[in-house]
Amino acid sequence: MRILSIETSCDETAISILEATGTQKSPAFTILSSVVHTQAPLHAEWQGVVPNLAKREHSRNLVPILIQALREAGLFKIREEKNENNKLRTKISKMLERENELGPLFLESILNIAAPNIDTIAVTYGPGLEPALWTGINFAKALGLLWNKPIIPINHMEGHILSVLVPEGKIGVKTKTKLALPAIALLISGGHTELVLIKDWLKYKVIGHTRDDAVGEAFDKVARILGMPYPGGPHISKLAAEFSGTKKITFPRPMIHSEDLDFSFSGLKTSVLYFVKKLSELTDNLKKEIAHEFEESVVDVLISKTKKALDLNPDVKTLIIGGGVIANKKIRAAMHEIIATNFRKTKLLVPHSELATDNATMIAIAGYFRFLDQKSKNKKPSKNFKASGNLVLK
Ligand code: KG4
Ligand code: ZN
Repeated sequence: MRILSIETSCDETAISILEATGTQKSPAFTILSSVVHTQAPLHAEWQGVVPNLAKREHSRNLVPILIQALREAGLFKIREEKNENNKLRTKISKMLERENELGPLFLESILNIAAPNIDTIAVTYGPGLEPALWTGINFAKALGLLWNKPIIPINHMEGHILSVLVPEGKIGVKTKTKLALPAIALLISGGHTELVLIKDWLKYKVIGHTRDDAVGEAFDKVARILGMPYPGGPHISKLAAEFSGTKKITFPRPMIHSEDLDFSFSGLKTSVLYFVKKLSELTDNLKKEIAHEFEESVVDVLISKTKKALDLNPDVKTLIIGGGVIANKKIRAAMHEIIATNFRKTKLLVPHSELATDNATMIAIAGYFRFLDQKSKNKKPSKNFKASGNLVLK
């Protein structure tokens, strides 16, 4: 089947088209197109994501991104006859009312697109910024009505987990990756840090989470302290890699010895802040040393908690790592190392770097799993779902 997916939970506007076949145990995926537009440079001015600005940008960009995604998949056609169904027009127009002044423009543009050869539409409904989520949801609902396609609401974090099923991330190439259960997923992004136990398909138990800041957020805040732009993760890891010599700075490894699987990163950021405040001069070399020690502290904590989670669940066959922070090379390498040395029977699945940060392909993969689940249970697709900013995995 063919799935068109929409992702607008944060500061990326993304649409993908995915061909999916097979069962949950043995699926096959071909990405037909994947378009991601990042608003990061815009939010950089405010050193973080501004919800209403994100919403405005999603509204502006969804139609052009849809057209690009359809074009790249070879599915774009202009409608030959005008859509004269006024009842449908009114219904869709009402649906798009919440999209401010862009509603009527949305409607006119999408009315001109011929219904593409797709089977269903998957859209992120949480967690994330509610104004941003609504933009994608209303757009999906409007397209669903216009093209007469069912909608599948998707949890963004489930998308991050299942993103590992397309490890190559290449367009037009069929990939088959098996995910053996039970699995543990470590999700590390700008908004989340959690360890999730997956015993059965689409059943999740959060076994550890951050008590304050997410890992990505800590990277972003430390980057800001060091005078670097948002998003700071890539800048910190680049700086850290440039450090050479003997390190004199030490930062704490928060909660590394706690009994549970929880995390805390706010204190680590504060340590960096106090350290920098006391300096008479923040030289380039010191910046590199701070970045290096901060990154090591994060790696130590993530590794220690992941090891603990695997020790507590010895039957786990797969370790999944998802979320934007896995773009970090040190964290990636350290995870590979613990699997190779301590948990040789466990398979490590990490998404392709393009699928690690927010994208819509992962939403389509999750859409396929949800579709199979609905089919097996004879359930009808949902219609009246809402944006859910604090949606949890369960
Ligand atoms: O998953 P994602 O794209 O968006 C959220 O759902 O949050 O993750 C973005 C986060 C940002 O905080 C960014 O600084 C971080 O991932 N990040 C990194 C690296 N690349 C991106 N953190 C550390 N090292 C990196 N190389
Ligand atoms: Zn994300």
